[in-house]
Amino acid sequence: MRVIITENYEEMSKRAAKIIAEQIKRKPNSVLGLATGSTPLGTYKELIRMHREEGLDFSKVVTFNLDEYYGLAPTHPQSYHYFMFENLFNHININPRNVHIPDGLAKDIKAFCENYEEEIRRAGGIDLQLLGIGRDGHIAFNEPGSPLMGRTTIIALAEETIKDNARFFKSEAEVPRLAITMGCGTIMEARKIILLANGEGKADAIAATVEGPITSQITASILQMHPNAIIIVDEAAAMKLRRKDYYRHVNRLLEEQGL
Ligand code: PGA
Repeated sequence: MRVIITENYEEMSKRAAKIIAEQIKRKPNSVLGLATGSTPLGTYKELIRMHREEGLDFSKVVTFNLDEYYGLAPTHPQSYHYFMFENLFNHININPRNVHIPDGLAKDIKAFCENYEEEIRRAGGIDLQLLGIGRDGHIAFNEPGSPLMGRTTIIALAEETIKDNARFFKSEAEVPRLAITMGCGTIMEARKIILLANGEGKADAIAATVEGPITSQITASILQMHPNAIIIVDEAAAMKLRRKDYYRHVNRLLEEQGL
């Protein structure tokens, strides 16, 4: 794992957007895995700016989103489908046919999940996966106890996640209790992974992910097994890391080599 500690949210977002932009320039038909939530908003803003001001071209890019609330239609303002169009896709030149987001209204869930995996495979696999992290250490909606080798499936949201996500709904009661999510096994097959976290509220989850044991109780900890995972965190989210100085030292040396 490479750990990059940035001064603030803005710098975290710019670092992530730069890596994504480099990926797209290197391979215009890149397959991106995308995330929702407050964390990646700054990254998406920066990508939109790069598209408008620097001509970053998304016309051949293919995307797969991590998850979607079960029971919400794509037109529902709290659906992740709606979120992605509102915060990214409507502002860049992506072909809507290249966008994949789990269907919150899927009737045959098992068939839907198998097909989602098949579509990722047919697209050639995910080149770069962007992730946020929950306070309980989840990636996508893989809540504590989810299998570390799991595939796309339906899951039940943990109590903590329902509380955290209630801020987007009128009340906690309105937060869907189920979601369709890529599994940790699906995520781990991405060739490169960037996990973002900012704010003090994520400090425990980040410390457990980076320096704790690999455990299904903190599903993000499986990223320790990934050969190409980058954790980009602001100072507040890095607060509880014991080996901060070492991570800074590593980055200084790598950056000197242009890596
Ligand atoms: P957040 O959510 O970006 O809104 O904090 C992250 C997550 O739950 O994965």
